[in-house]
This record gives sequence, C-alpha cells and structure tokens, in this order.
Amino acid sequence: MKEGTIFILFGATGDLVKRKLIPAIYDLHSNGEKIKIIGIARRQSNPEKLINASKKYISNYNKKTLNEIKNNMSYIQMDFLNSEKYKLIKKELRKIGYTRKLFHLSTMSENFEKISENLKKINVIDNNSSILYEKPFGNDLKTAKKINKKIKSIFSEKNIYRVDHFLGKELIEGIIFTRFSNEIFEPLWNKKHIKSIRFYLDEDINLKNKAVFFEKYGVIKDVVQNHLFQLIALTCMEKPKQINPHSIQNEKAKVLNKLKIKDSLFAQYKGYRNEKNVNKKSKVETFAALKLEINNKRWKGVPIYLKTGKNLSKKDTKIVIEFKEPNCSFSKPCNFENNYLEIRIWPNPGMSICINEKLPGKNKINPIKLDFCYDCKFGPNTSKGYKEVYLHALNKDQQLSVSFNEIINSWRAIDKLKKNKLYSYKPKSKGPKELLKFNKKHGIKL
Ligand SMILES: NC(=O)c1ccc[n+]([C@@H]2O[C@H](COP(=O)([O-])OP(=O)(O)OC[C@H]3O[C@@H](n4cnc5c(N)ncnc54)[C@H](OP(=O)(O)O)[C@@H]3O)[C@@H](O)[C@H]2O)c1
Repeated sequence: MKEGTIFILFGATGDLVKRKLIPAIYDLHSNGEKIKIIGIARRQSNPEKLINASKKYISNYNKKTLNEIKNNMSYIQMDFLNSEKYKLIKKELRKIGYTRKLFHLSTMSENFEKISENLKKINVIDNNSSILYEKPFGNDLKTAKKINKKIKSIFSEKNIYRVDHFLGKELIEGIIFTRFSNEIFEPLWNKKHIKSIRFYLDEDINLKNKAVFFEKYGVIKDVVQNHLFQLIALTCMEKPKQINPHSIQNEKAKVLNKLKIKDSLFAQYKGYRNEKNVNKKSKVETFAALKLEINNKRWKGVPIYLKTGKNLSKKDTKIVIEFKEPNCSFSKPCNFENNYLEIRIWPNPGMSICINEKLPGKNKINPIKLDFCYDCKFGPNTSKGYKEVYLHALNKDQQLSVSFNEIINSWRAIDKLKKNKLYSYKPKSKGPKELLKFNKKHGIKL
C-alpha cells in the first residue's frame, strides 16, 4: 500500500462536486496532500470534463495543479444502485492501492442505504476509511432513523461522518470560541440581557439546475433542518465540558431537543414552477421565515428568528444577537440603540459590535460599529467548508460531523411544522411582502 488518499465521489457529475468538492480537493492537493479521485455517476463524462466544469469555482487556479488533479482522476460511469457494477470500484481501488479512502456520498439520502450495502459487499472499508453522508440526512425522523440503523449495522460510528459543511466555515467553527473565551460576552449570553437572536441565510441563485432535488425537500429540509439549526445549536448551547467532538455534539443536541417552532411564513418565488423539472402546481417553499423558542433556563422567552430564501436580491448569511434596551435614564432624549453583535459568515466574513457613542462636539449619542474583517486579518479564502470537512475526516476528527442525536432532535422539530399558506415573491427581491407584517408581529427590526 502507498501513502495517500483516494476520494471516491458518488454523484461526480452533480452540482456539489463541481462547485465545492473538486475545489476543496484542489486546495488539499496544493497543500501537498497526495490524492487520487474516483468519480462515479450515470452520465457519460470523463476527468477532463469534470475538472473543466469546476475551474471557475477555484480561485486563482494554476494550470499545472489542475492538470495534476485531472491526471490523478478516473471516472466510472455506472448506476450506484446496481451492485454488479461495484466490482469496477473495487478494481480501481486495488489498482491505486493508497492507504486512506474517503467515500463521499454526494447524493440524496434515499441512496445512502443501498450504496452502503454495496460497499460492504465489495469489502473495501477498513479502519483507514471515512464514509461521508451529505445533508439532509433523511427526509424526516422516520427515514433518518431507518438510514442510520442500516449504516450503523454496516460501519462503525468512528468511520461515519454526517456532513454539514457549514460547520467547517471558520466563522462558524469560531462561534464557541467567541462566546466562551470572552468575558464581555458569556456573562451576558442569556435571556436577562439578550432581546432576540436572528439567523439569516439568503441566497441569490435560482433553482434552475437543482429542481429534482429541491422539489423533494424545499428550503426547510435543504437548509433549515441542517445548516440553520446547527447555527442555532452552536450559538445557544451550554459550555461543552471540553473542546472535543463528543462534548460539543452533546451540548448541541440538548439545544435542538428544546427547540420549538412557534410561527412560520412560507413563500415561493414567481417563475419557480416554470423551472425545468418543477411540477407546474408545485407547493414547495423557496423561502421561509420562522419564529422559534428554546425552552430551557437560559433562553426561555427569547425569540429566535430565522429567515432564508432562494433567488433573493443578495447572498447574505449572518447571525445577529440583539441585546436588550440599554438604560438611558441619564440622557434626554433617550435615543440609545440596542447593542448588537453581528457575526457575518458571507459576504465580508467577520464580526461587528454596535455600541452607542458620543458625537464629536455634541452631548448626543450615535450608534457606531466596531468591525472585525476576517479576510483583512487572516487573508482571503480561509473559510472553506469542505476543505475543513475533508481535513477533519482525514485526521479521524469528528468535530465537524453531526451526531445522530442532533439529527433526531432536528427532525423532531421540523416534523411538527405545519405548512400554512404559501405566498409568492419577486425573484431578486427581499422576499414576500407579507414578511414585513410577520416581522412586525414578532418585533423584528431588520
Ligand atoms: N449543491 C450544493 O451546493 C450542495 C451543498 C451542500 C449539500 N449538498 C447535498 O449534496 C447532495 C448532492 O447535491 P447536488 O446538488 O450535487 O445534486 P445533483 O446536482 O442533483 O447531483 C446528484 C448526482 O448524483 C448522481 N446520481 C443520481 N442518481 C444516481 C445513480 N442511481 N447512480 C449514479 N449516480 C447517480 C447524478 O449523476 P447522473 O445524473 O449523471 O447519474 C449527479 O452526479 C445532496 O444531498 C445535497 O443536499 C449540495
């Protein structure tokens, strides 16, 4: 066996592989990781086509490295539900003969059981293997339990990674450090001092090429059950006993267990039903706003607000922690703004704290922002989810993997959600006009 890693990408012709996985492998290779890639999907394709399609998602790529990746890649055209074909994978793995194998199931979860069973049959999983399952893990609590039971009967938990690449973004990984290593935050991080916590995940892309997937999931299962609930869990959890995967996952699971959805608003962008592969009468939501509560001692009564949508005016992922009204008894008029901490994931990764300050030459208060720009301090391109996910898996570190308890608790909350009316909104807008009313009702100021 030779030292090196083989990435086996199920769903190699898909959007995720093109936009994120090949670029992540490119970065690892550039950092000196010895790699080979086996791509698997049904369409006719080849390494050259796949690498070319990824080019524009790799910032400042150089041709030599790209060529090396291409020369280290093979493509197997097969139906991954057909067990007969797995001998082709086994043959290719043998031929390469590298020590580490990372199987990434970049496909919908309805395929997870079958692919896992087939991998078991060809006997290619060993202690040095990681099997990565994409989110959403299941379609509801029942299917998630069924999939988990099956994969646990085949592989050991230490080989299993339930991926949520948001956990690999630097600003998100950093949330617990911001909280627990700063005396100016942690003592205030509770219902006595915090007025609301808001989570935003706005995307500007439409669903032109993702409808087959999206029609089954909608925005709630695409990003709320996983990415946004993970953000809530990290922001609101109790201090873990230690910084290790088990302690962190445990604390996150406890928050998710107490999460209750109290109100909701759903919408679909105009023209969605005309996208390729979309049902002309589709009721799938492409936008959601939710009000939630965490029913525990720290957070009871604090509104948690969440907004996400596709085809909106801009891409914007952030967390806003708004503190309660400051005491302004010594100042007339009382025009203090509430302090807030904003954690920006994208764009302009970084953080701002808004405080009230005196205007020069006047006895008047004005809110100002203290700003931390992540890229200015640490350099650009440091916040790459999948590269981190891969590095952790290669180091056998499950900190960026989601435990099954977290998944169960997330689905429990989502399964109870009743979809009420579906509003509509203009593409490239801020969302449905009913959002204003929803925000007003919940005292949300954007
Ligand atoms: N796209 C993203 O930005 C993103 C981000 C985070 C997570 N994810 C998750 O990643 C997964 C994949 O998403 P995606 O956007 O890449 O989906 P996608 O574009 O629809 O790709 C699905 C891939 O699976 C292959 N496939 C489907 N059935 C197959 C079969 N029976 N045999 C062999 N290949 C088969 C398809 O190839 P052929 O049609 O050629 O067979 C295609 O390569 C989803 O679970 C999604 O939630 C996606």
